Amino acid sequence: MQRSDATSGLTHLPPDSPVRRQDFLLGVATAAFQIEGASNTDGRLPSIWDTFCRAPGKVLNGDNGDVACRHYEKWAEDVELIAGLGVDAYRLSVAWPRVMHADGRKNDKGLDFYKRLLDRLREKGLDTYVTLYHWDLPQHLEDRGGWLNRETSYRFADYADLLSRELAGRVTAWSTLNEPWCSAFLGYGNGHHAPGLSSTRYATQALHHLLLGHGLALPALQVNDPAARRGIVANVGAASPASPTPEDREAARLFEVQHNAWILDALFKRQYPDDLFRLWPGSEPLVLDGDMDVIGRPMDYLGINYYFRVHVKSDGAHGYTEVRAEGVERTQMDWEVHPDSLRRLLIGFKRDYPGLPPIYITENGCACDDRIEDGRVRDPQRLSYIDRHLSAVDGAMREGVDVRGYFIWSLMDNFEWAFGYERRFGIVHVDYDTQQRTLKDSALAIRDFLAARTP
Ligand code: NOJ
Repeated sequence: MQRSDATSGLTHLPPDSPVRRQDFLLGVATAAFQIEGASNTDGRLPSIWDTFCRAPGKVLNGDNGDVACRHYEKWAEDVELIAGLGVDAYRLSVAWPRVMHADGRKNDKGLDFYKRLLDRLREKGLDTYVTLYHWDLPQHLEDRGGWLNRETSYRFADYADLLSRELAGRVTAWSTLNEPWCSAFLGYGNGHHAPGLSSTRYATQALHHLLLGHGLALPALQVNDPAARRGIVANVGAASPASPTPEDREAARLFEVQHNAWILDALFKRQYPDDLFRLWPGSEPLVLDGDMDVIGRPMDYLGINYYFRVHVKSDGAHGYTEVRAEGVERTQMDWEVHPDSLRRLLIGFKRDYPGLPPIYITENGCACDDRIEDGRVRDPQRLSYIDRHLSAVDGAMREGVDVRGYFIWSLMDNFEWAFGYERRFGIVHVDYDTQQRTLKDSALAIRDFLAARTP
């Protein structure tokens, strides 16, 4: 076992923090496309990301998900790795194109993979947080319009029904969608992600169909797997005004409407914010009677993914435009590190959405330019990032926000979407030539932290 000899621990987090208690859930997270590889194995169908990776210039270095971390083969070793960290929970996603044939029949080979994996995780005493959709839409559905086609919402509900029947009893908590904002806006709004379309009208329609699919899936999850909790995972964005002028303050507000209220108002107020369509005139989605009630169906928890803050200034045409702040700490993604924004956002959500269910931070983490030197990966920035964000969570809890857990993104280095394998988010290093996993210093420190928790 690797030993930690030079880990400074989590020094920001107050000694009396509830986050240090054993009843605060701590976990690590991954997603199917980013780690599994075996893109052609056991009848897995192509997904929109397989297609996107093959389009020239879309993914850095032309990387793709064919091999990734070979998790489809190395899953048992990876479960040992997770259990060895001493975390409480593992958040993973199921690849829709692995478990369903194009005609809607189940693919038992793909399902068996997840059954084995979940069984082993549970044997190790780990809670399992399973996301149904982490961006890997079967390509055959995209060929019929993808999330622009209302039919896809119903196909998603079928998939949720099948999966929850098959995996019932093995899942602690289901999440329908991961970051629907990214699926809709990056996938259909600006084309940075698969399927690579660019229109705000598409983005709002895709988001509506994603959320509709989420709402349609909830009853099946409840009926088929009543003991499991049900939720959704939303990425949230923080913006600060580039100057104190009222115009720039308004720009920051609009940024947060576009990133946060777009999703959260739909889920918890059953409406889309009017401001959104002032930002994007003519982009109203087609919403049928009753849709917003489906979208607003109650859930057991809300997952929040948070990474960074931006600065914005007023821009007449679009309401806001991002400006690059100087003299701020940044990660390998070039994202600004700003833990206090997480605290502020959480407190704001509690204020703005009465009846908000308990929150889990389902992703937070830091990409660093990690290298193995003398068998060791020194990643002090990552540990400090996690420490300071856990402190921000602590701060929100002290203000009455009901946060129950926190997942580090990510268990291991993996396929970082349009940035390929160059950006490393893992607390475990992956050597892509040998597929060797090495605990980084941050992982060793987190393991020590977990072992020292108070009852
Ligand atoms: C959000 C996504 O859910 C995850 O797939 C991605 O790798 C991380 N954030 C980091 O960008």
